[in-house]
Amino acid sequence: MNHNINTRRRRFLLTAPAAAFAAPALAADTCRVTDGDILGPFYRPGARSAVSLAVADTEGERIVLTGTVLRPDCKTPVAGASIDFWHCDHSGAYDIKTPDEKIAPENYRFRATAQTDKQGRFLFETIVPGRYGIPLGLEGFEAFAGQTRPAHFHVTITHPIYLPLTTQVYIQGDPFTAKDPWARHSKLAFSLKWGASGSTGSVEIVLANRPGQRRA
Ligand SMILES: [Fe+2]
Repeated sequence: MNHNINTRRRRFLLTAPAAAFAAPALAADTCRVTDGDILGPFYRPGARSAVSLAVADTEGERIVLTGTVLRPDCKTPVAGASIDFWHCDHSGAYDIKTPDEKIAPENYRFRATAQTDKQGRFLFETIVPGRYGIPLGLEGFEAFAGQTRPAHFHVTITHPIYLPLTTQVYIQGDPFTAKDPWARHSKLAFSLKWGASGSTGSVEIVLANRPGQRRA
């Protein structure tokens, strides 16, 4: 099984540049800057720069998630944007159990940073995160205790010219999206595609250059 996954992954990586970044540019009439979303209680700074967040024995369905960061015009790539990316494991658990838990960066799991290339692109090889229930008594989330969150990836993007963006990436068709207070309003969801080389997903993220901006 692992051998098959690794073989598929290697094949994918060999063909990734063409296959992974094939998302078309947004049409002009749908051009909107990407909405922010909650930071959540499990962000930690200082993650290492890495492409791969999963190792050989990591449980969970492998996915290569690619993204393109664009200017407010929805078509010009933003090079050199810093991406801070984190998510839970296949069972819905983060590497920290409470927001105040101390953890050394070398013990981080499913956290990584990256920089967009000249075409505004980034790529992470990881797993599809599990869903999780919002625990009782979590500060700021008391009203949502017990509710199941759909699978999601967290991301914060910073760049010297554009406004920082903290948001979440969802998976289209997740049955828990409709009742999630945040996902149900989000337009940042990708279609999960399973191919011979493994699962893939692709998103486009449009930065703003002034507060409250919706369109270029
Ligand atoms: Fe989360």
